[in-house]
Amino acid sequence: MTDTAKQDHVLIFDTTLRDGEQSPGATMTHDEKLEIAEMLDDMGVDIIEAGFPIASEGDFAAVSEIARRAKSAQICGLARANFKDIDRCWEAVKHAARPRIHTFIGTSPLHRDIPKLNKDQMAERIHETVTHARNLCDNVQWSPMDATRTEEDYLFRVVEIAIKAGATTINIPDTVGYTAPRESADIIRRLIENVPGADEIIFATHCHNDLGMATANSLAAVEAGARQIECTINGLGERAGNTALEEVVMALKVRNDIMPYQTGIDAKKIMQISRRVASVSGFAVQYNKAIVGKNAFAHESGIHQDGMLKNSETFEIMRPEDVGLTETNIVMGKHSGRAALRSKLADLGFELADNQLKDVFVRFKELADRKKEIFEDDLIALMRDSDASE
Ligand code: KIV
Ligand code: ZN
Repeated sequence: MTDTAKQDHVLIFDTTLRDGEQSPGATMTHDEKLEIAEMLDDMGVDIIEAGFPIASEGDFAAVSEIARRAKSAQICGLARANFKDIDRCWEAVKHAARPRIHTFIGTSPLHRDIPKLNKDQMAERIHETVTHARNLCDNVQWSPMDATRTEEDYLFRVVEIAIKAGATTINIPDTVGYTAPRESADIIRRLIENVPGADEIIFATHCHNDLGMATANSLAAVEAGARQIECTINGLGERAGNTALEEVVMALKVRNDIMPYQTGIDAKKIMQISRRVASVSGFAVQYNKAIVGKNAFAHESGIHQDGMLKNSETFEIMRPEDVGLTETNIVMGKHSGRAALRSKLADLGFELADNQLKDVFVRFKELADRKKEIFEDDLIALMRDSDASE
């Protein structure tokens, strides 16, 4: 294992600008890509996959500019398994202080069938292309696309070829989100145990979320020895998306007792980048999305609100400040209780005696039955009405 990955350190490889942008409709402009890259660099992402340079002139320009501007992150570009793609990728990333070429080929039976390569021909292609990439750059990542549906013996064989040809990171993509957590761990563990040279390189996990298991699969892979997680902000990505950066980072922080691994991410920057990615990609974050959803730190029910007012640990396993929010959102609605109402009114400057609260609470519930959410203005109006009726 190289010095960039210590036993307990997990590298965060963000592919919002490549795999994330591949979601139909999520295209970002040149300037938006530069802005997101700067935010990723600033929050401590180790490797930014900035794009697919051969895909278009625009992607080439964005990757080149991101490479020039990066402060500490490694800048990576994607290339298929041919010299033209790899050369184009190198032309873009070479401006970075720490460039990386990421080249891949589909190794499962379904994917081998597309370029009509038999196993030996594909093995030869892998050897040639990884060697070529390594002659250009000393930081080469190789991915057997659809690794999790590739025959195990063939996966071992091609991973060994890529390592011998000079790959420094081997990424194991669960391209179609087909794997379950135990399997995800087994694949990494068995690769480490069986492939010669495996201890010299870093294994990465790259999961898609088709069955909603991307985060669990990524963490299982880490427990089995992977030391790089590939992910995107808000889980943006094709179909059901990729592993969400905010989920793996916070899971490793909050459950460090059972998953003792560190990342270099400044989690306080999560909320800001989540909102920016949602806005530039046009992909709104679902309300109940873990960590960054509007409701992730919101409470409406009386029992929860009462608990939260007494001790926030009753219903929150992390503090909103940990991810860059200023405070928990106590939402006033028909499930809210007296304690929350008293506290909200006190915030608005209304200190009520018990008998006054009783009266206002009845009218608050009547209003809440008619209105989904009660805002501060509604509460002020309620108090004004109660003054008028006295
Ligand atoms: O999901 C996938 O297989 C990919 C590869 C290009 C790494 O995104
Ligand atoms: Zn992918």
